[in-house]
Formats: sequence, C-alpha cells, structure tokens
Amino acid sequence: SKIPVIAIDGPTASGKGTVAHQVALRLGFHYLDSGALYRLTALSAIRKGVDPVDEHGLAKAAAALHCHFNGEHVFLSNDDVTAAIRAEAVGNFASRIATLPTVRQALYALQLGFRVPPGLVADGRDMGTVIFPRATLKVFLTASADARAARRYKQLIGKGISATMHDLLKDLNERDARDANRAIAPLKPAEDAYMLETSDMTAEAAINQVLAWYAAIR
Ligand code: C5P
Repeated sequence: SKIPVIAIDGPTASGKGTVAHQVALRLGFHYLDSGALYRLTALSAIRKGVDPVDEHGLAKAAAALHCHFNGEHVFLSNDDVTAAIRAEAVGNFASRIATLPTVRQALYALQLGFRVPPGLVADGRDMGTVIFPRATLKVFLTASADARAARRYKQLIGKGISATMHDLLKDLNERDARDANRAIAPLKPAEDAYMLETSDMTAEAAINQVLAWYAAIR
C-alpha cells in the first residue's frame, strides 16, 4: 500500500506516545495509540466481570470492542474513558492480556484499519515488527528505567495522582519483563528500525529527529 506509516515502538514510558502524537499532528497524519486498544480491552473485560484467566472471555471482549477516538478523548461504547484507561491497574491488566495470542489476533484487523490517507503514525510494542512490518519508517525509542520512572512520576504528580519512584520503578521493570519475554509479538526493535535513546533528550528533540528521518526517506 502507498499510504505512509511511521511505526514507533518502545517500552513503557519511553515517551513514544508524546513523540508519535506530535509527529502525527505536524504531518497532518492519523494517530494510532495501540496501547489504548489493549487498555480498552482490559477495561471492558473488568467492567464485564470477565475472569483474568478466562482466555476465551478476554478474546471475546477484544473482538466485541466498541470504541472510538475523538481528538484526545477515548470512548468505550458511549462512555468517555480517557482517564479511566490510564489507571495503573488497567495498564497492568492490559499487559497481562496482551500476552494472549487470541486477544492480539482479535485486535489485529482493528489496528490495520487506522491506515488511511494521508498517513498514519502508530505507536506501541509491535507496530514495526508485526502490525506494519512494511512501514515507511520504523523508530524504536529507548530510555533508562530511571529516566522513564522519573517521567511517569512527573506525569502522575502533575495530574494530582500520588506515586512513589520505588513503586513506579518496580511496576515498570515488571511490565518491561512481561512485554519483552512473552512468546508472541514480544517488545523488540525491528531489524530495520532507527534506534533513538531519549534518556537525555527533550521530547522536542526526539520529535524533530523522527521528522528528520522521515523527511530523508519519504
Ligand atoms: O503503551 P501502553 O502502556 O498504553 O500499553 C499497555 C500495555 O499493552 C503494554 O504494557 C503492553 O503489554 C500492551 N501493548 C502491546 N502491544 C502494543 C501496545 C501495547 O502488547 N502494540
């Protein structure tokens, strides 16, 4: 397909959401936050009372996902769940169900559907490896666990949510391990991904680097 895709992958709190969203805005492209789909599936399953070990029930929740995006807002059916899906508990549940092949399969076509003109910026764990293996540009963002925990801490405190660096680091390391070690679509850079180490980089610098790479290869 000729519709350009910029795939941006990386671990939790690597800044990929901010970078991907801004790159999309500046290019006038659509934006897919694939993690939000896993979070929406998790929230939907939690609300339906699906047992976290009921693989069939979880896959059904993923296949029946009724969600839509409107600017910065995310809706589950008609309910604005923008804040609800960001809860740590929902993120944890999401990372658990993301290990299930049936859940990933159910969300596959939904993700492909975001590729519409004039182009797409997609962020997640497997955008460049599984969902859009022929993406125009692939970027893999990294940052040290300390830098990522510090960013997450600032974000949460800014939103008036209490947090400790200790708990955030522990949670981050657990989630990293789960994402990197799962059998299906593990977090890893595509062979042809551009690596971007952002520990000592501002968001603005990271955004400009991605735009420069895209301008050079498009
Ligand atoms: O990126 P975010 O933290 O919102 O994603 C929530 C969880 O969904 C991640 O911890 C990860 O396990 C899962 N995920 C995934 N594949 C993606 C995006 C997210 O497995 N493409």
